[in-house]
Amino acid sequence: MSAMLPTAALLYEHVRRVIPPIEWPAFAEDIEAILALKRERNAIILAHNYQTPEIFHCVADIVGDSLALARTAATIEAQVIVLAGVHFMAETAKLLNPDKTVLIPDLRAGCSLAESITAEDVRLMRQRYPGVPIITYVNTSAEVKAESDICCTSGNAKAVVESLGVLRVIMLPDEYLAQNIAAQTDVQIIAWKGHCEVHERFTPADIRELRESHPGLVVLAHPECPPGVVAEADFSGSTAAMSDYVERQRPRRVVLMTECSMSDNVALAHPEVEFIRPCNLCPHMKRITLANIRTALEQNHHVVTIEPGIAGRARLAVERMLAV
Ligand code: 13P
Ligand code: SF4
Repeated sequence: MSAMLPTAALLYEHVRRVIPPIEWPAFAEDIEAILALKRERNAIILAHNYQTPEIFHCVADIVGDSLALARTAATIEAQVIVLAGVHFMAETAKLLNPDKTVLIPDLRAGCSLAESITAEDVRLMRQRYPGVPIITYVNTSAEVKAESDICCTSGNAKAVVESLGVLRVIMLPDEYLAQNIAAQTDVQIIAWKGHCEVHERFTPADIRELRESHPGLVVLAHPECPPGVVAEADFSGSTAAMSDYVERQRPRRVVLMTECSMSDNVALAHPEVEFIRPCNLCPHMKRITLANIRTALEQNHHVVTIEPGIAGRARLAVERMLAV
């Protein structure tokens, strides 16, 4: 550790509980380079809660759930935005910053929910249910957003559904999110068959087994989990809501039924809380690394572009959501 670069050495103190010393030298040089590149290029890094700790705690300027990243994206002054997250998040940042350069370090960082539906599917739903408002989860492409009336995230889905003042809505594409929100509201929700490949793998039996082997365990589940999992949990909410729950309640022992890096990131702020770690990795989120963030800034790629005809309509759906 003696040859460590000065800023990286200070940053290591924040993450030493989750990153072994042997792994750190491989990160330190990229971290120093990224910090310098951000200054040179007037760039800012937005990172989702599922990013690995060396990104989340060492180079990101803004961290949060999809809603917080979208809200922040609407207020950014920097000229270049690097989205450490998945493609739909970068598109949302671009929609809200049409004149800025938005970079995604790996174009393959997709999402099984975004893949589950096309713009044509949404048009067919509109034909099938005339007059029923269409809410699209932000985990969709700009083309799909453009066909919808308003967007939502897991953090504001219930509020968005109820803001429309109607008896029935269509909510696309996450079937489980739609079912979990339907359980909390009188509004009837028509769903699609999309699933998150990370959250659909959790089962109610997983929770029962965990509770048996870890007495006093508090279980938090993301609303993309199947309804049976949410029903067995003590609390369900977006990634930011789960993080706030730990901050407020300080459970002695907790499990987050969600993506793996989330526990690492929250655990660093709460050494007194024991985190039980059955978790599932999101292969798309894990496409983003310090090395490709550095290359993105050095080589100005991959630039996110959205066709103007689509961007205008998609932006409206996102802005309507932000106004709720
Ligand atoms: P959040 O909006 O809760 O951060 O969720 C985004 C996501 O992709 C969860 O899988
Ligand atoms: Fe998509 Fe699920 Fe990965 Fe989130 S965790 S980006 S919803 S595949």
